[in-house]
Amino acid sequence: MSTNPTPRGFTSNIGAILAAAGGAVGLGNIWRFPYMLGQNGGGAFLLIYILFVLLIGIPLMMTEFIIGRRSQRNVVGAYKALSGGRKGWVVLGIFGIVAAFLIYAFYSVVAGWTLNYIVLSGSGRLAGLEPDAVANVFANFTQGSFLPLLCQLLFLALTGIVITMGVQKGIEKVGKILMPILFLLLILMCVRSLTLSGSQEGMKFLFKPDFSKLTGQSVLSALGQSFFSLSIGMGAMVTYGSYIRKEDRLFKTSIWIALCDLLVAVLAGVVIFPAVFAFGMDPASGPELVYVVLPNVFNNMPAGTLFSLIFFLLLGIAALTSTISLLEIIVAFAVEELHWKRTTASLVSTLLVFVVGAFCTLSFGPLQNAKLFDRTIFDLFDLITASYLMPIGALLMTIFLGWCYPKAEVKDELSNNGTLKARAFELYYIILRYIAPLALVIILISGIIG
Ligand code: PFF
Repeated sequence: MSTNPTPRGFTSNIGAILAAAGGAVGLGNIWRFPYMLGQNGGGAFLLIYILFVLLIGIPLMMTEFIIGRRSQRNVVGAYKALSGGRKGWVVLGIFGIVAAFLIYAFYSVVAGWTLNYIVLSGSGRLAGLEPDAVANVFANFTQGSFLPLLCQLLFLALTGIVITMGVQKGIEKVGKILMPILFLLLILMCVRSLTLSGSQEGMKFLFKPDFSKLTGQSVLSALGQSFFSLSIGMGAMVTYGSYIRKEDRLFKTSIWIALCDLLVAVLAGVVIFPAVFAFGMDPASGPELVYVVLPNVFNNMPAGTLFSLIFFLLLGIAALTSTISLLEIIVAFAVEELHWKRTTASLVSTLLVFVVGAFCTLSFGPLQNAKLFDRTIFDLFDLITASYLMPIGALLMTIFLGWCYPKAEVKDELSNNGTLKARAFELYYIILRYIAPLALVIILISGIIG
């Protein structure tokens, strides 16, 4: 008879990798990364980004996994269990829950948009429109109230349903089904994009580094983007880490997840830039790159309606596996610490996020003039979480594990109780104690003064 070694968590290593890669791969890869790369000069940004993912991203992901798996708890419970009763560290866990809540509130807005764009592209309503008309469709939709709120609510509900089904039957299963589909659709899109005549310009833009275009600010954007994309700094990977089986290798698992995340970002670039260049669009157009520029690109290519539908499906799938990881951070906390039922926890958190997230949705329309520090509510949530809460969370986490937790225990967890050689341990530990905190302090200070 087969017994499940960790009944509370994932049932296999591949399940863990796909679920966590699903959490990492999201709008950050397909929506945020391409437009940031477009605005920061292309290839050079990509190179710096890859460096950050490998040098800092992977060690920090390992750190979250170590904290989660060692404690076998949600993000608040983890710090409670590992800090030996020093209450201050529990605040770091609560900080993670708040960050997850705020990210979920604004992320679900853009995630909801994918639903409308799946319908719009599938029904051919974007087909044949002039560029101005495509821009108008986006403006009219996002500036409205009812439809974007409905889309957001539907997306939140979809996520809530998966979470209610549990870690194995919900999160792991959805990851195992959707991630391969996502890769398949992405590769299909790459082939389409690369076979357009004139696509080489886009490939050059993406892969040929021009360091003269790189500014200090773009280096920092690349670092910030790597955290956002890998979901580091607010407990998502602590929570998922607590579901990873004790016999799985955390080093290998982290590398696979980070490589998947990187690959999807690069492939999204391969889909977007050759097509954008082939049709003479602007690669540096910003956040509306995929919602305004791409539909125009699809309108110019053979079988554009089909590929537009595939693209927005892809975006929706990527967003869903990420919103699942965001909600799970909150729900795991409510279930384990507050002893709520999973269903109640999903429902209550979803409704609360909707109440707050609605303000983010409305900040594109009726509330667009409600500004603080010259930013809309949506922008403020994005800024506070990605530029402050995630780096602060990651910094405190490295201080906790690198400086306040016994080194021997860290090694024990990484080497599966000494059964693995863990040859890279010393290097990992140097990054954990010195390099990662330093990089994080630099991002934070430059964020504050910039
Ligand atoms: N990594 C996700 C993305 O790239 O879209 C965003 C994200 C998900 C950030 C979950 C944080 C998180 F906990």
